[in-house]
Amino acid sequence: VVFTKSLNTEPEEETELEPGKVKVTVFFGTQTGTAEGFAKSIAEEIKARYEKAVVKVVDMDDYAADDDLYEEKLKKETLAFFMVATYGDGEPTDNAARFYKWFTEGQERGVWLQHLTYGVFGLGNRQYEHFNKIAKVIDEQLSEQGGKRLVPVGLGDDDQCIEDDFSAWREQLWPELDQILRDEDDANSAATPYTAAIPEYRLVIHDTAANPEDKHASMVNGTTAYDIHHPCKVNVAVQRELHTPESDRSCIHLEFDISGTGISYETGDHVGVYAENCEETVEEAARLLGQSLDLVFSILTDKEDGTALGGSLPPPFPGPCTLRAAIARYADLLNPPRKATLIALAAHAAEPSEAERLKFLASPQGKDDYSTWIVASQRSLLEVMAEFPSAKPPLGVFFAAVAPRLQPRYYSISSSPRFAPTRVHVTCALVNGPTPTGRIHKGVCSTWMKNAVPLEKSHNCSSAPIFIRPSNFKLPADPSIPIVMVGPGTGLAPFRGFLQERAALKEDGAQLGPALLFFGCRNRRMDFIYEEELQSFVDQGVISELIIAFSREGPQKEYVQHKMMEKASHVWSLISQEGYLYVCGDAKGMARDVHRTLHTIVQEQEKADSSKAEATVKKLQMDGRYLRDVW
Ligand code: 2AM
Repeated sequence: VVFTKSLNTEPEEETELEPGKVKVTVFFGTQTGTAEGFAKSIAEEIKARYEKAVVKVVDMDDYAADDDLYEEKLKKETLAFFMVATYGDGEPTDNAARFYKWFTEGQERGVWLQHLTYGVFGLGNRQYEHFNKIAKVIDEQLSEQGGKRLVPVGLGDDDQCIEDDFSAWREQLWPELDQILRDEDDANSAATPYTAAIPEYRLVIHDTAANPEDKHASMVNGTTAYDIHHPCKVNVAVQRELHTPESDRSCIHLEFDISGTGISYETGDHVGVYAENCEETVEEAARLLGQSLDLVFSILTDKEDGTALGGSLPPPFPGPCTLRAAIARYADLLNPPRKATLIALAAHAAEPSEAERLKFLASPQGKDDYSTWIVASQRSLLEVMAEFPSAKPPLGVFFAAVAPRLQPRYYSISSSPRFAPTRVHVTCALVNGPTPTGRIHKGVCSTWMKNAVPLEKSHNCSSAPIFIRPSNFKLPADPSIPIVMVGPGTGLAPFRGFLQERAALKEDGAQLGPALLFFGCRNRRMDFIYEEELQSFVDQGVISELIIAFSREGPQKEYVQHKMMEKASHVWSLISQEGYLYVCGDAKGMARDVHRTLHTIVQEQEKADSSKAEATVKKLQMDGRYLRDVW
């Protein structure tokens, strides 16, 4: 499997604009593909509305190879939009991280963007602290550095209906853009109803005699600099269940074999995994498309095609490829469809009433229906397609405009390279539960891990393309510094790596400082994962104290933060002796509650008022001594 970025990775030529044309650049900072989708759809609409607009969609990472180039290129922009997501602990997405750091930190540039008019739309979730932080900061900075704000920053909230937030923000643009970009003879002004062009690949059907899978295999691992666009296919060496049979949930321990690949990682890093859709999902998709899974085809973008050049299509995947492989690897089928998807389906619905209904759902009038029937019901793309059986888009449209590209999933690595140099360990909770429509939602990657066959059990084992994402979640350089770790459930993952690392350091004669581990699970008999290993770390002196909150054993819920409160003076004495506090796990519930608890602990222990305590916690964060790996 090779994930090319096609046109985007080629060095970009600065083409001269024809007289009378205006360049518009749409930047995206995306983690799961939504911001990228929004960027592409807004680019399409600008192109369709304004004859004089020459629109480019730009992955922030590809924009400039180094910081000086950022400056040089940005100086020349006159009209730009930024679609940027905030994720994790108020962080930029990976592809926006370098730009964000360059733009918001370091050197004072003063007012230098006077020639730029801009708009920012953020993608975030109100349940999280730092709601849309990245978009807000970029918007403020652009203005401070001289840019002219075209419309107020849009704050998309994924907890509600981000599509609606995006539509509302985008509607404000047209009257403003009309002033800048409208020609007298542009038909599609804000007043006239507008229809977007539906992007499409050219499809080539191949002779089935060729062996497409082999071609794929030979293209794997052609490079040693692995990243999200160039993952490395590796085998699953070990796979086992961590919960006991008494548990009604599942948590998988999985080990990828990285020997001989050149992949290296550090304790605390993340691994990105490209999993495949399960067989059942793949078959359902082919049935709904009315296509055979054995069909062998390629998809192509033609350079002459304006849509492809503007970058509004996702890069094509390598072919020839069977439809089975293409759907399994590249199609996101279980998320709720975006509005642009509904419009593409409508264009190919043979039954007029189905086409009408689909168009309505995507229209401003259908806003409420979209938010209840699609978003709140968590209706998957496949469920929607099943409700509109006459909508059978051709494959060139399906892969360009209907099914978004399946995205990699990230896991905190649960091993240390000092202990497991040839393995990357993952600790993954199975996502499996009913949605409001009664569908059982099975998470793509966790289901794949649950079904993965390890090399231990078969030579015909499972494999997946993976890559390492570096993180800041690192042990202090000096192992004698005290640490406090808080990680209930799979939040334990990176700490297992930390502990393996400490054990190795100890073996090499290092003096270890105190280490507290707060772990939480429901019940000792069901989901106390890695119990024996943790006990052995205690016995070896790698953990000085293991404190466990069992939430469903006693009459009352006990959570890690309750245990922290019980040990408040000890916890605070370690942290205030130059110690480090680490929190890993669920951001919306656990990490937020632990954060509040920390605040309370500081108030009580330091006899400080609330604002003083807040400043103390902020300082810890700024000093890099309060680190969070949350999702
Ligand atoms: P629960 O499922 O019984 O509510 C790992 O998932 C552990 O984290 C479980 O014991 C779970 O308890 C607990 N947990 C759930 N919500 C939490 C929160 N807001 N803070 C801390 N722990 C929480």
